[in-house]
Amino acid sequence: MTQTLKIASKMFHRVLLAPQLGSKGADSAPRSLADIPGPSTPSFLAELFFSGGLSRLHELQVQGAARFGPMWLANFGTVRTVYVAAPALLEQLLRQEGSQPERCSFSPWTEHRRRRQRACGLLTAEGEEWQRLRSLLAPLLLRPQAAAGYAETLDNVVHDLVQRLRRQRGRGTGPSTLVQDVAGEFYKFGLESIAAVLLGSRLGCLEAEVPPDTETFIRAVGSVFVSTLLTMAMPNWLHHLVPGPWGRLCRDWDQMFAFAQQHVERQEAEAAMRNQEKPKDDTEPGAHLTYFLFREKLPAQSILGNVTELLLAGVDTVSNTLSWALYELSRHQDVQQALHSEITAALGPSSDAHPTATLSQLPLMKAVIKEVLRLYPVVPGNSRVPDKDICVGDYILPKNTLVTLCHYATSRDPAQFPEPNTFRPVRWLGEGPAPHPFASLPFGFGKRSCIGRRLAELELQMALAQILTHFEVLPEPGAAPIRPMTRTVLVPERNINLQFVDR
Ligand code: HEM
Repeated sequence: MTQTLKIASKMFHRVLLAPQLGSKGADSAPRSLADIPGPSTPSFLAELFFSGGLSRLHELQVQGAARFGPMWLANFGTVRTVYVAAPALLEQLLRQEGSQPERCSFSPWTEHRRRRQRACGLLTAEGEEWQRLRSLLAPLLLRPQAAAGYAETLDNVVHDLVQRLRRQRGRGTGPSTLVQDVAGEFYKFGLESIAAVLLGSRLGCLEAEVPPDTETFIRAVGSVFVSTLLTMAMPNWLHHLVPGPWGRLCRDWDQMFAFAQQHVERQEAEAAMRNQEKPKDDTEPGAHLTYFLFREKLPAQSILGNVTELLLAGVDTVSNTLSWALYELSRHQDVQQALHSEITAALGPSSDAHPTATLSQLPLMKAVIKEVLRLYPVVPGNSRVPDKDICVGDYILPKNTLVTLCHYATSRDPAQFPEPNTFRPVRWLGEGPAPHPFASLPFGFGKRSCIGRRLAELELQMALAQILTHFEVLPEPGAAPIRPMTRTVLVPERNINLQFVDR
């Protein structure tokens, strides 16, 4: 039945939306880059640097689509990029990907690796190197059984998160149930979770005393996202006059590499000692991802590059999604109540054990996570660099053109999602016509899609289930609505403070 619906939905989109791919008559030739409309370079730079445009890049997508249509061209710093903001065009673009899709959105990061002679991890690697890493890491992270294998480890981390939320209540002004800056708490949760999976050991980020090096790591992640945007937007000549952003970017990455190195070396030493006593069985609990990479004889530099990048990828992504989920649930008590009932019916009223298979089947839980990621896609704009000339809509995009995929604009498009700015998880439960399958793509698409997806979904399901089992979550009294802002990833523009009332 589900399969039939999927096929019907695909046919619907092919038949009804195909004419939108190109608006010209069948006999007119596709047009070139020079024909794509867009803002002048000075006006775009003024928007970026003088109107706070860097932190509003996601809104500029919506404005761009309203002004120029679904495709436009602009210079971002020294880089010329084509923006694509229609689901049918995104589908057309992504379905033409080759076997080693190139993202290239983080070129200052690649430059850091080159200058410091560091190995790239999966996020920044391209070509053959990327493919080798991807085929090594995908079975360890993406296979449902592999991700489920981390459930026990994550369950302990989630348990500590609940304890920490209890301890953090009433620390500032406001009610005794108020936790200030929940995203800050969830960054610690994100780092603790991904480190437990990667290294098989606990860092202690959720203890009463947070280890200072973990605070430094989390600060470096936030800071590198800010300097990434700045360094990409600045023209080359400006870097000589204003060296600050590039210097900060290198300092932040150096700190993250140093942190990862210290922990990987400790793991390596412990593993060597254990192996002397008794060689490890792969199925033993505690066999962690870094251990598998050593076993595969991946060079130490490459293991370090991957662990560092995976640690970074695990921090802001899950944490911001969890913050927005609880922010919206606190403002939609009816949805929170329904989700709480769904969880308790499936798991029992005060259960601390959350079988992963059960959680992943809960329809409202899935709908809430989808809706949160639609409203607040962690990666609001992704990118691709085609390895051959391709046709998208009315235009031929030459090989090596940087294309920006405007996921924020498509996931707030009223034609796809009626009342697009409203949190309405039921829209994913069969209410109304289904949106285009490429309208909301929070984990990306295809061979290069998010490798941490299953782990992230597991963390979100387990954390939401435990938090809502133990607390009723309420907004801060009198707090104004909070909007998202771009910091490479999408984050709340102000601290989100929430009340956690014992159930
Ligand atoms: C809610 C949580 C998350 C979201 C929304 C998210 C989203 C994304 C997106 C949009 C991409 C780009 C995909 C593309 O280019 O098609 C990506 C790539 C990636 N993500 Fe995630 N992510 C999340 C959590 C995580 C976690 C927890 C990890 C750590 C294991 C992770 C590791 C990665 C890596 C390594 C890549 C690069 C994959 C490649 O280039 O082959 N992500 N993610």
